[in-house]
Amino acid sequence: MGLAGRGTAIVGVRPKWWRRQAWALLFAVVCLGYSGLSAQEHAPDFEKPKTARETGVADPKRDARVESLLRSMTLDEKIGQLVQYSAGQPTGPGTGRSDYKEMIARGQIGALLNVIETPLINEYQRIAIEKSRLHIPLLFGLDVLHGFRTEFPIPLGMASTWDPDLVEKAARVAASEASAIGIRWTFSPMVDIARDARWGRIAEGAGEDPFLGSAMAVAYVRGYQGARLNAPDTMAACVKHYVGYGAVEAGRDYNSTEISEHTLREFYLPPFHAAIDAGAATVMSAFNSLNSVPASANPFTLTEILRKEWGFKGMVVSDWSSIGELVAHGIAVDDATAARKALLAGVDMDMASSLYHDQLAQLVQSGAVPIANVDESVRRVLRVKLALGLFEHPYVEERRAQRAFFLPESLQLAETIAERSFVLLKNAPVMRKPLLPLSKDVKTVAVIGPLADNPSDPEGTSSAPKAGVLSFPDELARRLGESNVFRARGGGILKASDEEIAAAVAVAKHADVAILTLGESPAMSGEAASRAHLGLPGQQEELLEAVVNTGKPVVLILFSGRPLTAPWAFEHVPAALAAWFPGTEAGPALARTLFGESKPSGKLVVSWPRSVGQEPLYYNALSTGRPHGNVDLTSPPTDVESKYVSRYIDEQNSPQFPFGYGLSYTSFSYGSTNIDKSRLSAKDLNANLSGRAEAIDALTVEASISNTGSRAGEELVQLYVRLQGTSTAQPVRALKGFQRVALASGQTMQVTFRLAPDAFAIWNDRNQYVVEPAKVTVWISPDSATGSAAQLEISP
Ligand code: BGC
Repeated sequence: MGLAGRGTAIVGVRPKWWRRQAWALLFAVVCLGYSGLSAQEHAPDFEKPKTARETGVADPKRDARVESLLRSMTLDEKIGQLVQYSAGQPTGPGTGRSDYKEMIARGQIGALLNVIETPLINEYQRIAIEKSRLHIPLLFGLDVLHGFRTEFPIPLGMASTWDPDLVEKAARVAASEASAIGIRWTFSPMVDIARDARWGRIAEGAGEDPFLGSAMAVAYVRGYQGARLNAPDTMAACVKHYVGYGAVEAGRDYNSTEISEHTLREFYLPPFHAAIDAGAATVMSAFNSLNSVPASANPFTLTEILRKEWGFKGMVVSDWSSIGELVAHGIAVDDATAARKALLAGVDMDMASSLYHDQLAQLVQSGAVPIANVDESVRRVLRVKLALGLFEHPYVEERRAQRAFFLPESLQLAETIAERSFVLLKNAPVMRKPLLPLSKDVKTVAVIGPLADNPSDPEGTSSAPKAGVLSFPDELARRLGESNVFRARGGGILKASDEEIAAAVAVAKHADVAILTLGESPAMSGEAASRAHLGLPGQQEELLEAVVNTGKPVVLILFSGRPLTAPWAFEHVPAALAAWFPGTEAGPALARTLFGESKPSGKLVVSWPRSVGQEPLYYNALSTGRPHGNVDLTSPPTDVESKYVSRYIDEQNSPQFPFGYGLSYTSFSYGSTNIDKSRLSAKDLNANLSGRAEAIDALTVEASISNTGSRAGEELVQLYVRLQGTSTAQPVRALKGFQRVALASGQTMQVTFRLAPDAFAIWNDRNQYVVEPAKVTVWISPDSATGSAAQLEISP
């Protein structure tokens, strides 16, 4: 299923102290310089919490209840708590049972997913409470990925706001809407680091960076789970897919991954760890094999790291059928072995494969699986149910949904987030003025392309736009008058006829500006939607070229769940906006942006490739032994110097647009990066790493940023670090802080980052987390590819 089709969203203004506490936790988790405050304010002195956030799952006050339940359970009832089935629209292959009601009455099911009708949820729950011997409530889960009824942008778009505060609010809305129908468990956030745009699920995460990914992971968890999980409007978060799934070879979904322990720890694990420290109640084990051991039967990641190193107390659920898939992976030749390996590795609940139901009893009776392991998994499941308050309040009031959906403040939030998710990729002058925002002289527009009306559902088959929210063309018509908006689809996403293209060209010719809404359908990204080609699908490039050839100024709005390679477009259209899939408020958000009522401030969280052959492409790569240095890569090599470097002979190395890039309607200039110390001591920094001591500021970094344009604007200021001379090679740049600043035209502001010792910590050649002596380069910059550098040293 396409991502945007799986939607479901909050809010209420929280007192400022609460936000500060939240940020204190985020800081402790990622230990760096993001303030979340305006530049006038400095990052407050955050208090590092002594322990991970407690949302109730690990509350020892519940232990007696858990133990007494456990003592009264038969083996079958214990196994029942570890079994989950889909009882609605399937989101994966297989299972096909129909006797859920009987099984629930017998205590053989602990959780259901994909049930989305309140009466049915209550009906299943009533069977569990009234008919099963121990009256243990069911847990109802669903993929609530970017809102429930009020849809927010897809997670890749949400991350492009670089605004964890907004993302947390969106997750809060999602929880209040979904819990109102009885869903108390969301299979979100997806925190997989994704470096390859071929992988369709890049749409579901926060991109390629572990620092930003950790901030987003924390925001989702806090939003879904609220302050206390047992409030009725919360959902337990499920951090997925643990782990390494984003590195599937060749970007092909479900494929294998090979990730060294070093790379795993430096890049792939941090967002999971951050989410768990933020109190995430559950974790989902992934489909992929990781270094030849499937992630759903991997004791190293599931037990050694997750339980022993990180102290995770919640439950692990397998991904859909991933226990059954251990046979296809080849580490089990029968179902019994698959079930045994998964359970012993640390997977508590079986989603959809039915192997725990079919095999576990026999495995326990034969001694192949110790009952102690089953008991421990049951404890974890019961703790989550108790923490959610399901024993006290198992049912949901059927009228609650009407009071929870589409609240005006939720829709307002969806619009704000959509606007902030847009990334302005290009905005060249037309008649000496940047094309965007559209000038008052634009009286007529042509809206062309298959994605204008409802980008979340271009075929109009499932989720009709929310009544009362205008589509993008209708918003244009409201502003310019219906007779001044010329509409032409120009064909479909995958196919267009010559006539359709000709009709689009005809309307473009009559308009002052042509707006092209091109890209992918939502079903072309998300799960099971890997692409080997990353260009505009179908005849869309042809349509674009035909319209550009009319000579009319073209605004290209790209809808997609991933960056799309379109070098011709980026060269020939004056203005291009990456809109992702913006959700319920797509129409108003786009119109407000085009007319300048809202100013784009989003920045890319993925490196945007020029060509699919560059993938996997990510900014925080290691240097090779033969970096290209000053060699010009825009033409093929001509001599030894330009040939024997790490390069392509037919493409540049650099992305079309780098990680962190995004324009606004004004321009900013950055002064030099200044630091308050030229030497730090590894010994002092090590003594003050998170987990070892109270957070301290190790280094203050400053730069002055000026708004050099004629409009007010917001800039997302980034801080990067490079370490050289360490025992393991470190990325050419690594994000360690970001701040949003609002500047009036002509205004200059000093932006300050205070870096904690962890900003300089690495995983060394013995896989220890330490600060080593190093040469350090620091940049405060508008993106990952530019900026002036400052240098210091870390002495032993
Ligand atoms: C996906 C998960 C999802 C699950 C339940 C699986 O196919 O990989 O991300 O949460 O289905 O829908």
